[in-house]
Amino acid sequence: MLEKLKQIASQIESFKIDSSATLEEYRLKFLVKKGLINELVDEFRTIDNNLKREVGKELNLLKERANQKWEEAKEKFESNKPTKEQTIDVTLPVHSVTYGGKHPITEVIDEISNIFARIGFTTEEGPEIEDDYHNFSALNFPPNHPARDMQDTFFITNDFALRTHTSSVQIRVMKNEKPPIRVICPGRVYRNEAVSARSNCFFHQIEGLCIDKHISFADLKQTLYFFVREFFGKDLPVRFRASYFPFTEPSAEMDVFLGTETEEDYRLTKGTGWLEILGCGMVDVNVLQNVGLDSKIYSGYAFGLGVDRIAMLKYGIKDIRTLFYNDVRFLSQFSSF
Ligand code: PHE
Repeated sequence: MLEKLKQIASQIESFKIDSSATLEEYRLKFLVKKGLINELVDEFRTIDNNLKREVGKELNLLKERANQKWEEAKEKFESNKPTKEQTIDVTLPVHSVTYGGKHPITEVIDEISNIFARIGFTTEEGPEIEDDYHNFSALNFPPNHPARDMQDTFFITNDFALRTHTSSVQIRVMKNEKPPIRVICPGRVYRNEAVSARSNCFFHQIEGLCIDKHISFADLKQTLYFFVREFFGKDLPVRFRASYFPFTEPSAEMDVFLGTETEEDYRLTKGTGWLEILGCGMVDVNVLQNVGLDSKIYSGYAFGLGVDRIAMLKYGIKDIRTLFYNDVRFLSQFSSF
């Protein structure tokens, strides 16, 4: 019987398991009830008691070896058993996923763009690095005119500067498109100003431009009234103060009345109740001529609105600089999720 054991041991060793099919073959040949190992066990029962000790030991070793080989191969080839990587423990706590959100400036720009979109204004953008022509000359700032000093400019070269206002986009739009024109142009602008809680060396504006036949100051006022009602959610009192911009004539600044009831409103309006939110006016005849539009046929209005100030007002932000520190503790408060 020992001879037979050896023979089967070598059969087990040489049996090649290289797929789930041969794995099954192996099992059927050696391990099942009617397999070779059990055959040996049956035979073992019949042998002489003197031999049992020695043969039993060998038989046990053989059984162990046969099972071990099967277990090992099973790990490899039994396909429907999920591997460790595939096993998902659904009771584990989930990883928290943090979603981004819109920056408050983007949020306000989108909101304002949507309001103007409802009355037919499309959105256009222009470059932040501008030449003298688009930022100044075409907008009726003559060379050495003191108006150029109104805005402290970051010059890059003699001819190029960071735009000081989004009015430069007006020129690009009027040169590229035929009236009727109704656009708003949001974007970042730069001025060489001392940085403080109320002013920064860059900020954001939304320019508005409307050019068509028979456009008057009344159209400008109605458009801005509509904007105030939609944005602030009610008909806040509005006032226009005469002002000056080289590219509009007449020019005005528009204030909205917040009142002085809350401490915040008192602070924002410096005790007057009025908050200036934009500059505006009728597009100057010289500007129309500079872009090749016949001022006898066409007229138009323009306005420029400070986005950062409105965002600060809307969200109760006290220091303009916090908008640009990119501190996630601040930004996550505006997450849209
Ligand atoms: N560009 C002006 C500014 O930066 C705002 C403005 C735009 C005024 C359009 C009138 C018309 O202050």
